[in-house]
Order: sequence, then structure tokens, then C-alpha cells
Amino acid sequence: SAAEKGGYDYFMLKEIAEQPKAVADTLLGRIGTDGRLTLDELRMPDRMLREIDKVVIVACGTAFHAGMIAKYAIEHWTRMPCEVELASEFRYRDPILDQRTLVVAISQSGETMDTLMALRHAREQGSKVLAICNTNGSTIPRESDAVLYTHAGPEVAVASTKAFLTQVVACYLVALYLGQVRGTKWGDEITGVIRELSEISTQVGQVLETMEPVRALARSLKDKNTVLFLGRHVGYPVALEGALKLKELAYMHAEGFAAGELKHGPIALIEQDLPVVVVVPSPRGRSVLHDKIVSNIQEIRARGARTIVIAEEGDEAVVPYADHIIRIPRTPVLLQPLVATVPLQVFACELATARGNEVDQPRNLAKSVTVE
Ligand code: G6P
Repeated sequence: SAAEKGGYDYFMLKEIAEQPKAVADTLLGRIGTDGRLTLDELRMPDRMLREIDKVVIVACGTAFHAGMIAKYAIEHWTRMPCEVELASEFRYRDPILDQRTLVVAISQSGETMDTLMALRHAREQGSKVLAICNTNGSTIPRESDAVLYTHAGPEVAVASTKAFLTQVVACYLVALYLGQVRGTKWGDEITGVIRELSEISTQVGQVLETMEPVRALARSLKDKNTVLFLGRHVGYPVALEGALKLKELAYMHAEGFAAGELKHGPIALIEQDLPVVVVVPSPRGRSVLHDKIVSNIQEIRARGARTIVIAEEGDEAVVPYADHIIRIPRTPVLLQPLVATVPLQVFACELATARGNEVDQPRNLAKSVTVE
């Protein structure tokens, strides 16, 4: 009913709008007044967390993209190797797992069969499994050694939005906590990031207030057949997520690429007026990546692409090559996905509506896939 949708036309719109609260709720009670993390709910003694020598993330769909983003943060803050694998592939390749491997299973529903089978396989090999889950008491957390719940609240739309943002936040909490417990050399940085993480929900709210031009742009592209998405570093999984949302909702051909791969193939796809969305890393921080992606934008535009650029406030270097600019607030490098994904959700939702598609219940998809 309309009341259930909180006045929005679709659950997806409501859930997109709820993201600042979902993010804030997922942080709530987990950051102490001294700026240190308390994750007692992990029920894993610090001694055990110090003995871990590898993290393996398993997930499907949108949750897999959250895991891809988490890999950058986990490796950076913990200096432990981190692998991310599609749950459906994981156990069929005979993965190397032992008691010192922490397996993180990410799932909104907690019922995805592929993810469940992957975690069962990991536990059989003696690994500890931590679930990151949005649904209290569901199967995946029940079968795991520990669980860190995301507090997104119920997600009804098939295409995941607020759950995704909170999965990234929860993964970051785990990464920062591991860093804190293991005392990596990033101690000062970790304290700073925890502070900045606590401000990120406000920034997500700011993005939501500036989405009208994104909607207008989406409507103008409703008769296109293909949209490409480019990103690198943590912007690469954001590009994959933008493409997945468009496939799921608009039934369009959409592909995400790592921008560095452009010259190894995707550039052959560029033709006149092809919309290409580019997620631009901050010019601060890893500025080398910023400069490289600006030259990618230049290259594809020279070949006639219509460039849609997602760039940080104040990044003027992209302006000459952008047909459309979507501005996002300045954030630390690793936090950018939390703001950069939001316009892509709005874009896909609006394009789907413009094409007359059912936004909350896309054809052929299920909210939770309980078969292998
Ligand atoms: C289905 C949904 C996706 C979701 C995926 C994983 O395919 O349509 O939106 O990302 O399952 O679901 P989970 O509940 O495990 O996060």
C-alpha cells in the first residue's frame, strides 16, 4: 500500500531515501566516545582475531560488490591478504582454507543458498565464519560462528540499495576493528577514518538532495540500448554495481569495467553518443589514479561517447571532458563508494520507470534466491 511505501511510489525510492539512517543505525553503538570501536557482538576473542592470517569474503550479487569494496579496506588497514569470491564459485575450486582463515559471508537476506553452501564448506575446513547480515535470526547468521548485523531495516525492493551501503559500512567496521586489535601501523589513520565514517550518513543525505538532474538525465537516455560504467580502485566495484542495477531494473545492456582495462578491449565498444558513466577517484589522495581516469574520459569522449562523470566537489579537471557532471561530497578515498553509489541507484530506478518497468519487482528476479 501507499502507506507502507511511506508516501513514495516504490519501495526502492523509499529505501534509497532511508540510506542516511540505515548507515547511521549500522554505526550506532559501535563507536565508543573515545573514538575506538567496540564490536563485542563478534564473540571472537582478540587473541583469535590476532591469529587470523587471511580473510576470504563470499557473497552474491550486490553483496558481492560490497565485498569487492571491502577487500581494498581490509588489505589496507589490516595488511592481511583478502580474497573476494562469488559464493557460487567458491567451493567448486577447492579453496585453501584453515583455522587461521576468517571467512566473511555477506548477505542481506541471510537465506541465499549459494552463500550458505560456501560458508558450510568453509566451516568444514575449520575456518571461522563471520556473517554480515540484515535479517535477524536467518539461516546464514545461525550457521556462522559470529554475526555483525547491518541495521538497514527491512528491504523490500528486489534490487538492493540501503542494504548495500550498510554492508560496506559493516565490512569497514570489521576491517577497522581488525586493524585496531592487531595494532597495524595505520593506528592514527584508523582513528581518523572512524571519525569520518561517523559523518558519512550526512554526506549520503547531501547526495540525495541533489538528484533531480540525475533523474532528468536518466529519462533522456530511456531509448538507449547500452550504458557502460568505468571506475578504478574502489570505484571499480561501484561501476559494477551501477551496471548491475541498470540490468536488473531497466533491462538494458550495461557493463562495468575497470578503467585501466579500457585499452585492452572495452574501448572498441565506444561509438557516437554511447553513454559512459565514469566514477572518478578523488584528485586528493591517490591523485595518480585521478589523472589516469581523466585521460580515459578524454579518450572516450574523443571517440564520440557521451560522458557522464561522477566527481568530487571541486574537481575541476574533469569539466572540459564531461557532458554531464554528477557531484559528490569530498570523502576519504575508501569512503567514496558510500556516496558514489547513490546517484547510480537513482539513475537506474528513474530509467526503469521511464521505460515503464516494474521497479520493485523486476522480471525474472527474486529478492532472495534459496536454490543453487
Ligand atoms: C538476489 C537479489 C540481489 C541480491 C542477491 C544476494 O539475486 O536479487 O539483489 O544482491 O540475491 O542476496 P543476499 O540476500 O544474499 O544479499
